Amino acid sequence: MNPVKIGILGLGTVGGGTVNVLRRNADEITRRAGREIQVCRASTRDLTRSRICDTTGIALTSDPYEIVADPDIQIVVETIGGETPARDLVMKALANGKHVVTANKMLIALHGNEIFAAARKHGLMVAFEAAVAGGIPIIKTIREGLAGNKVEWLAGIINGTSNFILTEMWEKGRDFADVLQEAQRLGYAEADPTFDIEGVDAAHKLTILASIAFGIPLQFGKVYIEGITGITAADVKYAEALGYRIKLLGIARRTPKGIELRVHPTLIPARRLIANVNGVMNAVLVKGDAVGPTLSYGAGAGAEPTASAVVADIVDVVRTLTSDPENRVPHLAFQPAAISEIPI
Ligand code: HSE
Repeated sequence: MNPVKIGILGLGTVGGGTVNVLRRNADEITRRAGREIQVCRASTRDLTRSRICDTTGIALTSDPYEIVADPDIQIVVETIGGETPARDLVMKALANGKHVVTANKMLIALHGNEIFAAARKHGLMVAFEAAVAGGIPIIKTIREGLAGNKVEWLAGIINGTSNFILTEMWEKGRDFADVLQEAQRLGYAEADPTFDIEGVDAAHKLTILASIAFGIPLQFGKVYIEGITGITAADVKYAEALGYRIKLLGIARRTPKGIELRVHPTLIPARRLIANVNGVMNAVLVKGDAVGPTLSYGAGAGAEPTASAVVADIVDVVRTLTSDPENRVPHLAFQPAAISEIPI
């Protein structure tokens, strides 16, 4: 069978990590996907940029629109991030008949309803595992692993940067600004790190998780959002003295009035597993009516953990491509809402 040709938009932390993982684990990945996956083209703002990944054999361009228009490319991997030009590129890729894999939580949280509608119209897949909780396969866990459950609530540490900051403040008494700079250097933080520390990134991810867990439309505007900028080293110490840890949680739960969505710093008893999730690690608790509570844990940010999720999505799309089109289950596409608009 011919190799599947993919084009990557953006060779930053996540795009570069994706190329590295695809190259290093090519044999395993080919076996699991059932076909060879070839990165033919990639776009990057800086064409001399080769320190993140080996771009040998990849045609580089500074214009991502060339890739979404290339008739040879079957899957477009969007790792540019942000709304502009990512939204336009993804919509054009779909209009040109390409499947899309994206790590872009803001894009899915704010424009997913429109993107999934376009994908359905064209019979294409949009996969976004890397958009939530980095390397933890939480989308697949909820959608597939917990498919038999009615989800009662979920709660998670879903921003690695703020958890890294809280951990360093708590463990080492370090200064907020210093730790944030380190998170930026390590490639954990968003291009605009206020998204991390103000809770907006966690709210994007919560919007996506809630949509899948409760079958509701993506409703970012309904999330109550409070970040960690008001937390001081003294708060962390007092919490510790009282037997608690402070964690930034994203919480979604059923209430008699509907689904409540909120992101805010939370005091958690120190003996709880989730209170001991430190550094850039993320963890998501999901309570299903049949399974009871489950906990998923792993690295929430960084090049290769996020690339792990991007590559898993590429493999998933390739497997689905390879299946008989008549019987293909578009399991990666968003399922329409079972519950309509539900405010806090
Ligand atoms: N800035 C994000 C975080 C990256 O710190 O969690 C992963 O989505």
